[in-house]
Amino acid sequence: MMKQENYSFIYEVYDSIDELNNEDATLLERARSLTKNAYAPYSKFCVAAVATLNNGEIVMGTNQENASYPVGICAERALLASSAVLFPTAYIKSLAISYHNCNDNMTSNEPVSPCGMCRQAIQEHESRYQHPVRLILSGMTGKVFIVEKASQLLPFSFTGSNLGAQ
Ligand code: THU
Repeated sequence: MMKQENYSFIYEVYDSIDELNNEDATLLERARSLTKNAYAPYSKFCVAAVATLNNGEIVMGTNQENASYPVGICAERALLASSAVLFPTAYIKSLAISYHNCNDNMTSNEPVSPCGMCRQAIQEHESRYQHPVRLILSGMTGKVFIVEKASQLLPFSFTGSNLGAQ
């Protein structure tokens, strides 16, 4: 017998960074200011990600584009690689992402959300360390979304368990 199922998740919406607790506000502030280190000469879309780890360290990433476009890497995956290289046993607690359009005087007013490839990569981090990655999503100004577990953004995902791993 056919049945229908429903998937939904709860996320938090704040009107501005001023409504966040100190730790989250500081992390988002760092992501906003790090967008200046993005290398995005082709898209002019400068993205930065900054995360806190369970060992107290902070790791970060910005998008790094390439004249051969598919070679470019997103800010989130740059961060994940950096984190795993520097602190292979530590897991991410919270990850803040911001961006601005370089054509637009460094302004942006809508939250950004990780691309599909980055969602897959963040999910691998969650399963590797068995810990949810909390996302803090925003532009340079305006609303902030908080998602408690990044893999909530990737339902029906393909994981290591599909390969018989773990
Ligand atoms: N990009 C990121 O770094 N993170 C995202 O969440 C979305 C997209 C980058 C990839 C590319 O360098 C530029 O933004 C435009 O897609």
